Amino acid sequence: MQTNRYGFLRRILHWVVALSTLGLLAVGMLFFFLGVDGTQKWFGEDTTGMLLKYHKSFGLVVLIGAILILRMRRRDGVPPYDPQQPLLVRFLGKIVHWLTLVALIVMPILGVLATSFAGKPVQFFNWNLPGTSLLGTHEPWATTLFQYHSQIGLLVLALVLLHLAGVYVHGRVANDNVNSRMSLL
Ligand code: HEM
Ligand code: HEM
Repeated sequence: MQTNRYGFLRRILHWVVALSTLGLLAVGMLFFFLGVDGTQKWFGEDTTGMLLKYHKSFGLVVLIGAILILRMRRRDGVPPYDPQQPLLVRFLGKIVHWLTLVALIVMPILGVLATSFAGKPVQFFNWNLPGTSLLGTHEPWATTLFQYHSQIGLLVLALVLLHLAGVYVHGRVANDNVNSRMSLL
């Protein structure tokens, strides 16, 4: 039995967060390049409304998942590598994982605040998050927070690409067992 793997719950959380983030970035890139108005023009109001609803909902799923992963990381650390990885590889992995987790907590918080200040509903699937309307509408803050949401979104994209480069190197170049540490099977 392989003993250098992440715990089962942590692996489940990784895949929930990873797949949700890929979806969020795909829809986010649509908004980035077309804008919400442009998306409505191309895909219609209903589809855009649905994309926004699921973007917000899975954004909140990622928020909860990333907080849980961070707590587990602080409690359990990272399982030892077997065989040991070079210091530089461990260092790079650590930096990318930490930055990703922090960005995945900051992004949804910015999204929620910006959406509320824009006077729009903060949806979680078929519910509207109660209480966010208490913040009141403030267009200039909404604009600024959406700008941060957009810029940090590009940072998340860069971090995911770096992460996938690491996955490729471990899987195809070094051909070691690092990727299997996170596999579900
Ligand atoms: C990890 C979670 C998230 C990621 C990676 C993410 C990523 C992105 C990206 C890349 C964009 C495109 C930015 C642009 O238009 O320039 C975007 C747009 C948007 N996001 Fe998120 N997002 C996340 C969570 C959320 C949450 C939780 C909400 C709200 C509850 C939200 C609400 C929005 C809205 C309303 C837009 C459209 C902004 C506009 O009017 O241009 N996002 N998101
Ligand atoms: C094909 C896709 C992916 C594969 C094969 C994969 C694989 C892995 C592996 C093997 C690790 C552990 C690395 C180590 O032990 O040093 C890891 C950790 C991590 N990955 Fe991914 N990953 C993928 C996609 C993603 C995506 C899209 C995200 C989203 C942002 C992500 C976020 C993370 C985070 C935050 C960690 C640290 C987890 C923790 O400490 O529990 N991964 N991934």
